[in-house]
Amino acid sequence: MTLGTGLSLAEAVREATELLAHAGVPSPRVDAELLADHLLGVGLGRLRAMLLGDSPEPDGYADLVAERARRVPLQHITGVAHFRYLQLAVGPGVFIPRPETESVVQLVIDRLAETHRPKVADLGTGSGAIAGSIAHEVPDAEVHAVEFSEFAHAWAARNLAPLGVKLVRGDLRDALQEHNGTFDVVISNPPYIPAEAVPNEPEVALHDPPEALYGGGADGMELPTAAAASAARLLVPGGYFVMEHAEVQAGWIAAMLRAGGVWSEVTTHLDLNGKERATSAVFTPLSNA
Ligand SMILES: C[S@@+](CC[C@H](N)C(=O)[O-])C[C@H]1O[C@@H](n2cnc3c(N)ncnc32)[C@H](O)[C@@H]1O
Repeated sequence: MTLGTGLSLAEAVREATELLAHAGVPSPRVDAELLADHLLGVGLGRLRAMLLGDSPEPDGYADLVAERARRVPLQHITGVAHFRYLQLAVGPGVFIPRPETESVVQLVIDRLAETHRPKVADLGTGSGAIAGSIAHEVPDAEVHAVEFSEFAHAWAARNLAPLGVKLVRGDLRDALQEHNGTFDVVISNPPYIPAEAVPNEPEVALHDPPEALYGGGADGMELPTAAAASAARLLVPGGYFVMEHAEVQAGWIAAMLRAGGVWSEVTTHLDLNGKERATSAVFTPLSNA
């Protein structure tokens, strides 16, 4: 099937939906609408009202739909990812932030409700979604972000500069040494996918950077383990660590933290789909236990 020309907006969106569904896009109707809105810039509510009238298909729509049908991520086509209250600039070379990470950020925001001028570190910041959201929603926080990839760092710089986040290009294993023992919160959504668990969706497998996906080692635990070690280095006694991970890693991460001897209140958190998606703990070095 090809998209026709001279169609009404409603006809074009209907055809686009069929084309995207045929290509295996998981949410074809919404994506068809969002691509139309990307060209028209009216907002989804107004777009849906326009679909009831006789508005024409916007110029360039067929090209965008064809790109999405090739399973290029919607966010790479529009250049924008929505995350909590932020609109982040994204494109090739940076991990597209996921909805499940929004609830990991909420854990930190809840935790910081009583803390005056908290100091927060985000390890492996990607687009800056986590660090930027915390800076935006906890305005008195001093937020630091670390990113290793040159390309992701460039996207993060663009997104985080207006929010006052202090971004460094570095390795989460040894970054921020000069701030050791000073953070109230360390949060991380590190690469964690096991080596063999290559994602099925082309949007992820072909367009998310591999260095953002694979955690290292057969079980994907190398970078999550390193993030926990860095958190213990960076936090003040009583500081809070939270890390996103794969469901299968929840037990391993809780066991690792409990065995480490410096963590208390080790807690696994579910995402909106009921999956064990994040683990938090409080840094409790022996002298404070
Ligand atoms: C799963 S992505 C998460 C990005 C972002 N925090 C989010 O939640 O959308 C992991 C990020 O960690 C970065 N990364 C990978 N290895 C790293 C390392 N050794 N040090 C710092 N960042 C690293 C990747 O480039 C990627 O941006």
